[in-house]
Amino acid sequence: MSLPPPIDQTSAWRALAAHASATRTRQLRDLFAADDKRFETFSFRCGNMLLDLSRQRMDGETLDLLLDLARTADVEAWRDRMLTGEPINTTENRAALHTALRLPANASLLLGNTDIAALVHDELKRMGEIIAALRDGTWRGITEKQFKSVVAMGIGGSDLGPRMALEALTADKLPDIDIHFVSNVDGADIARALQKCDAETTLFVVASKTFTTQETMANAETARAWLQEKLGPGIIDWPRHFMGLSANTTVPGKFGIRPEQVLQFWDWVGGRYSLWSAIGFPIALGIGMDKFRLMLDGAHAMDHHFRTAPLNENLPVLMALAGIWNVNFLNFPALAVLPYDQGLSKLAPYLQQADMESNGKGVDRWGRPLGFQTGPIVFGEPGTNGQHAFYQLLHQGPQTIPADFIVPLQSRYPQGKHHEMLLANAFAQAEALMRGKTRAEAEAELRADGADDAKVAALAAHKVFSGNRPSTTLLLPQVDPYHLGMLIALYEHKIFVQGIVWGVNSFDQWGVELGKQLAKPILEELIDPSLQHAHDSATAGMIALARSQPRS
Ligand code: F6P
Repeated sequence: MSLPPPIDQTSAWRALAAHASATRTRQLRDLFAADDKRFETFSFRCGNMLLDLSRQRMDGETLDLLLDLARTADVEAWRDRMLTGEPINTTENRAALHTALRLPANASLLLGNTDIAALVHDELKRMGEIIAALRDGTWRGITEKQFKSVVAMGIGGSDLGPRMALEALTADKLPDIDIHFVSNVDGADIARALQKCDAETTLFVVASKTFTTQETMANAETARAWLQEKLGPGIIDWPRHFMGLSANTTVPGKFGIRPEQVLQFWDWVGGRYSLWSAIGFPIALGIGMDKFRLMLDGAHAMDHHFRTAPLNENLPVLMALAGIWNVNFLNFPALAVLPYDQGLSKLAPYLQQADMESNGKGVDRWGRPLGFQTGPIVFGEPGTNGQHAFYQLLHQGPQTIPADFIVPLQSRYPQGKHHEMLLANAFAQAEALMRGKTRAEAEAELRADGADDAKVAALAAHKVFSGNRPSTTLLLPQVDPYHLGMLIALYEHKIFVQGIVWGVNSFDQWGVELGKQLAKPILEELIDPSLQHAHDSATAGMIALARSQPRS
């Protein structure tokens, strides 16, 4: 079978490169001035979610060329391969079927001979039963007290999604059970969570696709030891206080977790795409099963749109293409994620894993080195906090950093004029990045404020904003379970489309392995000072310094 050419060697890519150099000096201000329908032309809808690309540095021709690129990369065929369960994760020989986790109950999807939609719904039912038992007190702790705290232990995809979603949906949070998250192997993380818990009323949820991840297993062991110490070293019924969430159904048992207290998912769900599965248990416990199902419905609505909308109206496709235009043709290597919603404060860390672990690759799916940049450097903070931290660089730094503004039109916490103030800031920041302020405008402003010529000459340059800084705005009605589901699925599919265009496998993560491998011998040396493995002088020197510290 002959391989497709790397995407940067296609005529579609070359046409975009030529178009980029021909239009490099074009200003967004001028594009808006020349076309008062620009917002309508470059806004796209899925249900009541609106994606506005009018502040991207593109015109109709750019979009057409980008759509050609998507067709050249065969995006639609790859999308269908993913959705029907072909093993598109070729380096691990697996399907990537997170979309099956949000299929409606009457759907069916065969993977081999197994209807995985039925498996998914059986497990959702079990999840609902466990949650009901915890909430109505049918399942209690050893001393027959009802659980009041849950400590969810996991890392990466087994942590970031539930943590992000529960924070986003605080308005939906049910009372009576506090949920704490522990991820870091830094003992401070579990120690601080345990300080808030009473052993008699605490349930530990060990979330790990593999059930072998060092950090999670260390935290689970510490939690088990703490429980045994608090409830009496002789307790044999400690497993009553433990649940497992895993795709590896044998290892939780080895740890001591009872099979009926393990919720399962499957190897065709990537860790960073797993919040819709058993890994979402803390979300469902926190907001209730019905609202968790609404989140799945929202994601499914976006899946349906992604599967059926033509490319030129398809939100994930369009968002992906705008990102590719910025990264590869305008050479802007980063992406600021700026949600104007305090609940979405964990969205940027969530998307860092979703995007950077998926597309931060150096070779294509056939192992050929890539000659262009892939995934952007993702960072962000909710507005307005970020405005008082790093926006200075976004507005006046010499580098251009495209931004995604994510703006719910209604607040879940209406308080006086707070939401209007929040919206005003969101819209103003996007406008400021786009239009900037010219030298003439800066001088005129200074003069209007009474500055003399000397002051104008001294200050004007500092008050200039180059503008022409691209952003995307996503408007959603509010951050409720349904629209959060849509939003996350939108980003998942955006990342997928970008991976397809770049030709990478977005579903493996070999890049996390080397550090893990090297940590093993170092840990041995830190624990047993008689051991000495070969290292470079920096690593050896640091190991020696660490060993010289008093042991606690
Ligand atoms: O960071 C590497 C990684 O494998 C992620 O992809 C994954 O989400 C995380 O570790 C946790 O893995 P597990 O769920 O198996 O504990």
